[in-house]
This record gives sequence, C-alpha cells and structure tokens, in this order.
Amino acid sequence: MIAAVPPASDLASQPPPSKLAFDSVLVLDFGSQYSQLIARRIRELKVYCELVPGTTSAAEISRHRPRGLVLSGGPASVYDQDALHPDPAIYDLGLPILGICYGMQLLAHDLGGRVKPATKREYGLASVVVDSEDGLFAGLPQEMPVWMSHGDVIEQLPPGYRSVAHTLNSPVAAMAGPGGRVGIQFHPEVAHTPQGAAMLANFLYQTCGCQPNWEATSFVDQAIAEIRGRVGDSQVICALSGGVDSAVVATLVHRAIGDQLTCIFVDNGLLRRGEADRVIDVLTRNMRMKIIRVEAEARFLDALAGVVDPEEKRRIVGREFIAAFEEETGRLGAVPFLAQGTLYPDVIESTSADTFGAHKIKTHHNVGGLPLGMRFQLVEPLRYLFKDEVRRVGRALGLPDDLVMRQPFPGPGLAIRIIGAVNRERLETVRGADWVVIDEIKHSGLYGQVWQSFAILTPVSSVGVMGDFRTYANVVAVRIVTSEDGMTADWARVPYDVLADISRRIVNEVPGVNRVVYDISSKPPSTIEWE
Ligand code: XMP
Repeated sequence: MIAAVPPASDLASQPPPSKLAFDSVLVLDFGSQYSQLIARRIRELKVYCELVPGTTSAAEISRHRPRGLVLSGGPASVYDQDALHPDPAIYDLGLPILGICYGMQLLAHDLGGRVKPATKREYGLASVVVDSEDGLFAGLPQEMPVWMSHGDVIEQLPPGYRSVAHTLNSPVAAMAGPGGRVGIQFHPEVAHTPQGAAMLANFLYQTCGCQPNWEATSFVDQAIAEIRGRVGDSQVICALSGGVDSAVVATLVHRAIGDQLTCIFVDNGLLRRGEADRVIDVLTRNMRMKIIRVEAEARFLDALAGVVDPEEKRRIVGREFIAAFEEETGRLGAVPFLAQGTLYPDVIESTSADTFGAHKIKTHHNVGGLPLGMRFQLVEPLRYLFKDEVRRVGRALGLPDDLVMRQPFPGPGLAIRIIGAVNRERLETVRGADWVVIDEIKHSGLYGQVWQSFAILTPVSSVGVMGDFRTYANVVAVRIVTSEDGMTADWARVPYDVLADISRRIVNEVPGVNRVVYDISSKPPSTIEWE
C-alpha cells in the first residue's frame, strides 16, 4: 500500500477532520508497537483521535485543537542519545497529558523528575495497587491486573507530582500532577489490562472534558461536502479492486458527485470465483455507478508465466495493473482526480516508517495504489479511518453485508496463493479449493469471527487412493487465522468437524487434489500468506 500514500509534505495540504465539531485528542507517537492501538481504543470510546509523530511541534499540535495529549510508549530510554523527545513547548499549551510507559518517563524527565534503569525489568502481567482513587482510577478496584513492559522507572517525581499507584517492583506505577497531567507505567490499551478502557475513559471524559460524540458515520456528510468542495465539476476516476475499501470510497465519492465519477475494474484473472461479477453487480445495479470493466486476464497471466519468486509476482501484478489502468484512463481524456481507499494505518505507516526504521517483510502492493508519477490529485476520504470504521461507513451508505464484511484479500490475489508458477489450470484448482473453504466457513458461522480463511496450492504432489485407483495429485493447504489487524495472527482453532467437511469437499469437488493439510503456524514467525 506504500506507493499509494503521498509524502508527508502532501499531508499538510489535506486538513485533518479534527476541525469538525468533535472533541479530539492527539497521541504523540514515540515508536511503541501499541501506538495505533491507543488511537483505536480512544475512538472506541467515541472520542476522535489522531496519531502524530512524537516530535511534532507545539504549533502544529495546536492546529489540531485537541482537548488532551497522550504520550505513547517507545523502545528508547529517555537518556538514550537517539531518544525521541517532544517539543518542550507542548508543556506550555495548558493541555491535560497522559503519559504511557516511555511517555510517563518523558513527563517525569521533562518536568524536573529523575528516571533510572530498573533493577528488575518488569514485563508481562503485574498487579497494580491504587493509592489514590480519584482521577484515572475513579470507580475502579483498589487492586487490578495490568500489562507492564518497561526497563526504566521513576526515581524521583517532578515537583508537584505524587505517586497514585504502585506494584511490587515499581513504587511509582502511576503519577499525577497539576493541570491534568498523569503518567502510567503500564499499558491501558492492551487487552491484558482489563480496566484499561475505563482508565482511558476517565482521562478523556473527566480530565480532558471530552464528549463521547465521535462516530465513524458522523463522518459521511462532512466527507461528501469536502469531496464536492475539492473536486468541483471535474471528473474523478476510482480503481475498484473488489475489496471493501475501494467499494466504500467509490460509493462515497459517487454520493458526492454522481456521474462525474468513473470506476475502473481491472479483472486480472487472479480473483476468487464470482468476485468480480458480484462487486460490479452491486455497484452498477444497486448504486448505479459508471464502471468500466477491463478484461485483462491474458495480459496478467502472460506476464506471470514461469515466475516463481513471490516478490517478482507482486512487482509484475503491480506493473501490469498500472499499465492496464493507464491505457484505460488515456481513453477517458483529462481526468484530474483519482479517488483511492487509503486508510489511516497506511497514512500512519507512511509517516512513521522512516522515523522508526520499520522493517519491510513483503512489499504489499495495493491494487488501488498508483505511483505519484501519474500526477493525479488524490481524493482519499477514508484517510482518517480504521478498517472497522470503514465497514461502518459502508453499511451506513447501504452497501450489502457480504461486501462490507468481506475478509481482506491481497492485491496480487491468487498469484501468491499458488506456490510456484501460476497458470490457468493451477488458478482453477486454487479457486475451487478457496470456494469450498469460504463456503464451509460461512456455513459454520465462523466467517465474521476469523480474520482470513483461504486455500493455498502447494507445489507438492502426494500419493492417494480414490476408488480402486492410485492417484498422484496436488496437496492443498488450508489457512484460517484470527487477528486484530493482520500484524500478528494465530491459527484458528476451528472445530474438527468443520475441517473434516472442508477436507472432504475439496478432495471430492476440486479435480487434481488428493490431500488437504491445515496450517498451524502463528504470525510471527510465519506470515499469514505463504508468499
Ligand atoms: P502477511 O502475509 O504479510 O499478510 O502476514 C498480512 C495481511 O496483508 C495481506 N497481504 C497483502 N495485501 N498486497 C495486499 O494488498 C499484498 O501484496 C499482500 N500480501 C499480504 C494478507 O492477506 C494479510 O491480510
């Protein structure tokens, strides 16, 4: 998805929606793996929240007009040479601040306290004892489990601060000071801190005075007005991929400007059975959009012939998509705007990846994502939303559930679910097996509970016996995973009966398969897709 996101300098040109009539809070990101999760939790509490780099200037922060700030955790120690520090002027903004873990140590350090390495590193579950039952801990038990992950502790509190909770190893597990500035050593955003949401609610509603008035769907009218204002009477194109995001973007833009929008659906021949038809049917018949369907299976399969390297497959699919898309837009004449389904995690990734040196495991190619070289002006109405919020918007716009609740599907499609070379025959095999997996998972009521469920065509053949005959045929792997966001995942403990039905049906219904195996690897160390 990376190519789709404009550089940080472009971001400033698209004002954040926090100028809306919603109370908002900013999370200053110091590189914690949980930073996005903090923002999500805050939005779940119906307070609009954005993530900005930890070093964002106080002036820029003021531009967002937040009611409070959260300083996230981070991997550094405040005394490290390359430790990230906030702009000292943020402390003059008069805003309540919640420091979490490293964020609390920053508060302590910057406001005149002292931090030191812990003699005993605290990692995992701890029991926190509350010493002051107001503020963050109002209405909460006196002792409760929390999730700790830190190497430094507060040695001396800043002037005016007091310790409000402790654990066995941390005399200062939480601190409170004047002006609604509080720090906690543990992570309220993770599921392992069961009272974490209640603590965040106390901070947001009591300390910052926020109203719980943010809903993803309250965004729709505003987004439509913004699209109209930006586009005027110009033409807009939108690439449909078959996934939720591009369908929601197209619907939103169509709602705003009607037939000034033309959608392009490049059928690359790498989609699931019936998928292209279903999406086009919904959007043309129900939504009455103009959609150009480009039949490009031959082009993609020719380009992929004999290629076995997964990254090479991704590059080819990306390149061919752009070529097919360019050819089609060339026929449309001058179209200044491109609408695409960039989501908030992509925006965050593009602004923080450089800062925190994120390691690239796979180049995720967003089929809707086009190189900036194409010089379109971008319309990205979902750029401040998380995936679950996009789904809610999709529902509010009247898209059917089977489209809105669709599991994620990778841009390079079935090409990366065939291990080894891709051809029509192998595509038919994996498509047939995939159909069975999805059908059975839906039938068992598990579709919405798992993150993804699919089949992989392995390069292995095995011996089997069917009737009285020996067979030597393909092995199909089934992968069903649970996950919050695709970053980590676990194999789903699907009931044996469901697995048995999947296996029986694949072998019976899909020609050329005589064995089915179930993938029991988590991510990490594996990834969700096999390629
Ligand atoms: P991995 O395999 O990296 O996948 O654990 C994490 C999530 O990303 C999806 N995925 C992709 N999505 N282009 C995409 O648009 C890609 O090249 C790609 N590779 C993986 C994967 O399906 C999972 O949801």
